[in-house]
Amino acid sequence: MKIINLGSEANASFYVASELFKQMLYQKDSRLGLATGGTMVKVYDYLVELLQKNQLDVSQVETFNLDEYVGLASDHKESYCQYMKHVLFGAYPHFTAENIHVPNGEAADIEAESKRYEALLEEGGPLDIQILGIGQNGHIGFNEPGTPFESLTHCVDLTESTIKANSRYFDSIDDVPKQAISMGLSSIMKAKRIILLAFGEQKREAIRHLMSQEVTTDVPATILHRHPHVEVFVDDAAMPEIDK
Ligand code: PGA
Repeated sequence: MKIINLGSEANASFYVASELFKQMLYQKDSRLGLATGGTMVKVYDYLVELLQKNQLDVSQVETFNLDEYVGLASDHKESYCQYMKHVLFGAYPHFTAENIHVPNGEAADIEAESKRYEALLEEGGPLDIQILGIGQNGHIGFNEPGTPFESLTHCVDLTESTIKANSRYFDSIDDVPKQAISMGLSSIMKAKRIILLAFGEQKREAIRHLMSQEVTTDVPATILHRHPHVEVFVDDAAMPEIDK
């Protein structure tokens, strides 16, 4: 695992956007694992700019989102379905609708939906690139501390820390859903290449844990030490001081 300080959120976001762009440029039927959250907003801004400038044909690209809240209507402004429409699929409307996958948080049977999603992921072979943010508690996707490393797509009870962190996007903390469907840690690890992004002081502790090399379910992101092709890009604020 490489942890690279690219100085600013803008630098890192542009770098990752161009990696995603190149992946789609050189492989028309790329399979991308996408993430949401505040961290990814600039990545998609730059990506849309690159796609527009080059009028890239993305009709064969297939995308899989990491997670979705349970119980939010797909047209709710904070659903990840809407987030993706806003930042990418509406802004560059040339993806093929059937190739866009987000777990259905409104499904009547969430367990069956999780199984369906995992099977879909499995079907076409490993994702070419999976992008990830990280929670202040070290979660990736919505895999909260204690999630087994062998987990597949599943329903998650969000921790207080995550509900609090995500309440900034909702009118009130009571509006934050208490559950989500998330790709599991094992699902994430199947990707050929993983890029994790972390910006801001509030992520520094999680990055410090990641740098400590200890692999523990207490900090789910540490499973990434076991993956052969992971890059972590941070800004100055998220970079822990290195002990001399
Ligand atoms: P954020 O979320 O990008 O909104 O900080 C990241 C995460 O919780 O994985």
